[in-house]
Amino acid sequence: MKMASFKEIISTLPRRKGWKDSNNDLFLYQGFWCSSFFIEGVMSAQQNFQSQPSDIVICTAPKTGTTWLKSLTFAIVTRTTFDDSTSPLLTNLSHDCVPFLEVDLAQSSTNRDPKNPLLATHVPYSSLPKSIIDSSCKIVYICRNPKDAFVSLYHFIARRLVFKDMKPLALEEAFELYCQGVSSYGPYWDHVLGFWKASLDRPDKILFLKYEEMMEDTVVYVKKLADFIGYPFSSEEIKKGLVEKIVSMCSFENLSNLEVNKSGKHREGTPGVIENKIYFRKGKVGDWENYLTPVMAARLDSITLQKLNGSGLTL
Ligand code: A3P
Repeated sequence: MKMASFKEIISTLPRRKGWKDSNNDLFLYQGFWCSSFFIEGVMSAQQNFQSQPSDIVICTAPKTGTTWLKSLTFAIVTRTTFDDSTSPLLTNLSHDCVPFLEVDLAQSSTNRDPKNPLLATHVPYSSLPKSIIDSSCKIVYICRNPKDAFVSLYHFIARRLVFKDMKPLALEEAFELYCQGVSSYGPYWDHVLGFWKASLDRPDKILFLKYEEMMEDTVVYVKKLADFIGYPFSSEEIKKGLVEKIVSMCSFENLSNLEVNKSGKHREGTPGVIENKIYFRKGKVGDWENYLTPVMAARLDSITLQKLNGSGLTL
């Protein structure tokens, strides 16, 4: 299908005011809210993307730890080529090391580096291209407490708007939309539950991770991640402290202080240009306490309880 007909379909979808300006309205496509630019990419990827059995697909809702998970996964799969002094992660934002399905691979699956099995997407499980679901490729998913995910998303969008000399939405207004599920790739809870349920059905295909648990004991989860994606650490590597080296290279402190992540730009020369530093804010668990009133926190908690009821998942 041609782009024009994607646009035609999008123009018929339910539409809400986005968190940015009127050019960024969100549309409800296959049960999730998204800007028209990304929906076009998703539609195109659904039509064109052909997954390989060796692919490792990093799936996330926005602001739940994508940058970190991409860095860790990239460091794991490239560790025999690079070390912690030569890794491309030291001179490139991790988003530039892992192609993004709905932007970079939407038109074709052939423009990939054959040596890099990684790709990333924010697409909900039920809307992933069929070949990702059907092939034997692996999926890794990370989720995060909704209060921190909201606060992180709010700041991300506000900082981007300030960069473009635009006025950010009030936190309260964004909060209301978030609670209603109207956020990029949201409702957030549906995104998480889609991957949670799929990970229970297909534990060999989908590894379900939590940001908070990974922060608590990153070494354990990095080993688990490496095992899952088929790049297990040898006992020799473990003895040499390679896991700890990767954890330390990919830590918030290290990545956020690299020159590329302090002064570089992602997608420079395109309308989607963004300063790399916007991907690094605090990297803390529980920062929501500094921004949400007790009433707001209780409201999000209650939505979370209600949405996850009976799923066996807690956030
Ligand atoms: P905060 O805004 O709470 O600081 P994403 O990568 O999905 O866009 O998520 C961004 C969040 O992950 C931000 O959270 C960001 O600071 C945090 N983050 C970025 N790099 C990280 C890292 N290496 N380790 C832990 N958290 C990281």
